[in-house]
Amino acid sequence: MKTVAVATQKGGVGKTFVSCQLGFRLAGLAAPTLLLDLDQQLNASDSMARGGLVACAPFTMLEVFEGRAGELPPGQLVMVPGHPDLAAMERQPQRHNAFVNALQRFLAEVSGRFRVCVMDTNPSPDVRYAAALATADFLLAPVQLNQEAIDGIATLLHHGRYGYHKIRQVLNPRLELIGILPNLVEGTPFQRANLQQLVLQHPGLLIPVPRGDVMGYAYIPTRTAVAEAQAAGVPLWQLRQRPAGPQPAGGALPLRSAARDAWREIKPSFDAIAAILLRED
Ligand SMILES: Nc1ncnc2c1ncn2[C@@H]1O[C@H](COP(=O)(O)OP(=O)(O)OP(=O)(O)O)[C@@H](O)[C@H]1O
Ligand SMILES: [Mg+2]
Repeated sequence: MKTVAVATQKGGVGKTFVSCQLGFRLAGLAAPTLLLDLDQQLNASDSMARGGLVACAPFTMLEVFEGRAGELPPGQLVMVPGHPDLAAMERQPQRHNAFVNALQRFLAEVSGRFRVCVMDTNPSPDVRYAAALATADFLLAPVQLNQEAIDGIATLLHHGRYGYHKIRQVLNPRLELIGILPNLVEGTPFQRANLQQLVLQHPGLLIPVPRGDVMGYAYIPTRTAVAEAQAAGVPLWQLRQRPAGPQPAGGALPLRSAARDAWREIKPSFDAIAAILLRED
């Protein structure tokens, strides 16, 4: 099993969207996938529960961190949901090592059943963030193309305690940065200039995507269908039209063409990431 932490220290950049849709995509590629929600906001948990396409564990990440995890249900896509009290872990420094060890033990125990584990993280540098990065094989960092977020990449890499390089040095030399994944990308000149700046300042951090696209990097455009799929807890490519009036008897609603178009744009990026996660050593 390969484990990827979808993490940045910035909020609202699409970590949860990327985690959930990557989970759907990997499961769709026949890779048994485990999704862990480390965030006390429960955004991934609530979304996935709404869609009903995931097998949900009868315990939460709180029990995992406390070493009290139970049996996972069968399924191609299985989720361990978050818990509001996850935020309290930070205030128990005497238990921090035990939390990290418990996560590592849990993943070691289930690693025979899954091909990939995707961890959706909370947006603050804390013990959960450290536990995720200490345990993961890969780090994937969604970013927004604004100046503040670009400046934040230096923190992601070089933060004195939680930066990628420090984590590799102190906690997890195995950790590999898949790259940064620009999200909420608009085709404006301002964003194009920011992307250019990103390429110049952080060469090699973008994820190459083999396609004829001018960017040649993984990125996710801003699309209403993305937010709608996330709200519905379904794969973007399976988003159906909202029923107008009473639901038609028998027969599924038609697929949303805007969602299909959005998925066509986004799929090469997700598949480039999936290929790295599914790579044989
Ligand atoms: N490419 C996109 N196009 C349109 N909406 C998007 C896109 N990416 C994310 N969103 C929406 O933006 C909001 C924030 O995204 P998301 O919850 O995935 O971010 P996050 O990084 O997990 O946030 P947090 O740090 O609070 O956990 C959500 O409502 C999501 O549906
Ligand atoms: Mg989130």
